[in-house]
Amino acid sequence: MSRVFHVPPVPGEGRRAVPHARSAAYSRSGEPARSGEHAGQAPGGGPARTGIVAGYLSPHPPHLVYAENPPQNEPRSQGGWEVLRWAYERLRHRIRHVHRPDVLIVHAPHWITMVGHHVNCVPNPKGVSVEPIFPHLFRYHYDFRTDVPLAEAIADEAGALGLVTSKLREPGVRVDYATIGALHMVNPEWDIPVVSLSANNNPYFYSEASLGEMEVLGEATRRAIERTGRRAVLLASNSLSHLHWHEEPPVPEDMEREHPYNDHQYRWDMKLLEAVRRGPTAPLRELISEHIEATASETKAGSLTWMLAAMGWPPVAGDVLGYGTIIGTGNAVVEWTPNGDREGDHHG
Ligand SMILES: [Fe+2]
Repeated sequence: MSRVFHVPPVPGEGRRAVPHARSAAYSRSGEPARSGEHAGQAPGGGPARTGIVAGYLSPHPPHLVYAENPPQNEPRSQGGWEVLRWAYERLRHRIRHVHRPDVLIVHAPHWITMVGHHVNCVPNPKGVSVEPIFPHLFRYHYDFRTDVPLAEAIADEAGALGLVTSKLREPGVRVDYATIGALHMVNPEWDIPVVSLSANNNPYFYSEASLGEMEVLGEATRRAIERTGRRAVLLASNSLSHLHWHEEPPVPEDMEREHPYNDHQYRWDMKLLEAVRRGPTAPLRELISEHIEATASETKAGSLTWMLAAMGWPPVAGDVLGYGTIIGTGNAVVEWTPNGDREGDHHG
């Protein structure tokens, strides 16, 4: 079925700058500029470019937020999984000091929709997000702003490209932990507006349908960003290899118990990440599918394919900021920029 709707992204379009002023579109949306930030200004002082300025593989296991001990999360920990959390620290530095986005757009595998692709259009989602398997690790009080005009534009563009879409407008719907977990690790201040996309569940029933619809959703996302003149960072909230332990140690953050599920899973994660580091991204299209078959990778939910498709499968290497396992699953924090530049590392 997905092939019926498949529209190949136009090569290179994901890297196209949009000439009209982002700040004008931003004020039309009714969203106030962030205090203390220089929205509309590039790090060098010139006008900021609009479009997609970076994309991150940003995994969401609840253990990461638990280990950070933020005030929004009820459980307390003694830390753990530091290497991944340090990778997120570097990511946060780049977001705040290099990319300076208007909006974070996240695709997450645990907002599961059985029919079509949904976009959260609630202006101010607020509530408690609970991880159903690990409620003792993740009970997170969230309160954030949605970039509603962009959210609606993504749904409209996706509909125009033939995808079944829906705009979520029910304010009481609880936001899933994969959305909240990734967003917290990327921006714990929550001072950047958000657009949140659901994961259509078809790939779990029709493996042949695979990731074709995510290419279309990525194209729709890029078109909506350009049409609204946003400066956007995309987040693919996925782990890699996804087999995991079924028994938890008495202390969940006991790092003596943390290691890859097995060598097969680890080797496949490294095979994928070596290709990511080598670049370009085009060969990943096929390799992501092979990796899913080999490791039950969570990328089957489509977040990573959506993100790279939105960026036009840029001919660049990804920057692996860190890799680690969480209850045996593989997790990597990876950055892609449209031109493959690594400016962030020179700023600290
Ligand atoms: Fe997950």
